[in-house]
Amino acid sequence: MEQSQNVILQTVNLTKEFSSKSGSVQALKDINLSINSGDSFGIIGLSGAGKSTLIRCFNFLERPSSGKVFFQGRDLAALSEKELRQVRRKISMIFQNFNLLAQRTVLDNVIFPLEISGAEKDYSLARAKELLELVSMGDKLNAYPDQLSGGQRQRVAIARALANKPDVLLCDEATSALDPDTTEQILHLLKEIQHKLGITLVIITHQMDVVIKACDKVAVMENSRIVEEGKVKDVFVKPQSDIAKRLIMPHGELVKKIDSNRLIRLTFDGLAAGEPILANLILACRVPVSILQADSNTIDGVTYGQMLIRIPDDNISESRILAWLEENNINYKKERK
Ligand SMILES: Nc1ncnc2c1ncn2[C@@H]1O[C@H](COP(=O)(O)OP(=O)(O)OP(=O)(O)O)[C@@H](O)[C@H]1O
Ligand SMILES: [Mg+2]
Repeated sequence: MEQSQNVILQTVNLTKEFSSKSGSVQALKDINLSINSGDSFGIIGLSGAGKSTLIRCFNFLERPSSGKVFFQGRDLAALSEKELRQVRRKISMIFQNFNLLAQRTVLDNVIFPLEISGAEKDYSLARAKELLELVSMGDKLNAYPDQLSGGQRQRVAIARALANKPDVLLCDEATSALDPDTTEQILHLLKEIQHKLGITLVIITHQMDVVIKACDKVAVMENSRIVEEGKVKDVFVKPQSDIAKRLIMPHGELVKKIDSNRLIRLTFDGLAAGEPILANLILACRVPVSILQADSNTIDGVTYGQMLIRIPDDNISESRILAWLEENNINYKKERK
């Protein structure tokens, strides 16, 4: 199999079927994915789409039903149990519910994976302290998990996940249990770690916000398949699949309820986002326009936005507006109900 130097994780025609007494579930269908070293790669989809199953296949916590998984060019199916254990140290995970050991202090939680991998005591202690400093938990070494906030627990879990110097950190809904401010701080920490340690991040979420804040690339999953994949900014500005549109504009159902056939969705990028587009449009076309939804996000310091507007219900106004949008190079799409 041809492997680009840069690809760290790859799946080829990966499928996973679970069978139980009540029948079988096809959790993954024909997944072909390549993740480059150093990427921050998002996997987004609704509940049950197959996201957790997919990342559990990345380190063979779940064995595929068919297809292949390659880590750094090595076919995981060809590895011995011992080699697999070594690979799993290089692909670590964090979770929504942190999974810390309640009976152990913060420091001992981080030392734990080092013990398991047979590291020397003095080294383990120094390494754990260094990592807890990195995640700003250096002053809580002797606290127990139940004395910490959710954000602090996730920081400890991140330190623990980094203990054996992994190449990949898989984050399964790592911020879903946290409030928006704490989510922001944890995502910021993950990005910092990605840059400082050159680690590859795979971030699973059902929130487009998380992808926008923390990822460079994204794969959108629906019904066990990847339905769309690309740079975050491309998927955000021009989502192709219905599910990506729904995740970006979660209130798409609203459109169906609005009593007008004349709706236009505008997507605009950094150049236009700071400008009073709507005011300019109204002034230039002399038509009343109302905003039904607006949403914008900043990716790499550039603002991308979407806006759903209602325009007057007559052909002349509409053609005037469309002509103005064309003239001003603004991306638009007429929405149908
Ligand atoms: N061990 C299992 N046995 C049987 N079915 C399973 C098992 N694990 C997952 N499934 C099924 O596979 C499908 C995908 O589940 P998965 O947990 O990967 O979804 P998800 O996208 O992570 O969802 P969520 O956002 O709710 O975590 C679901 O239909 C689920 O019920
Ligand atoms: Mg899941």
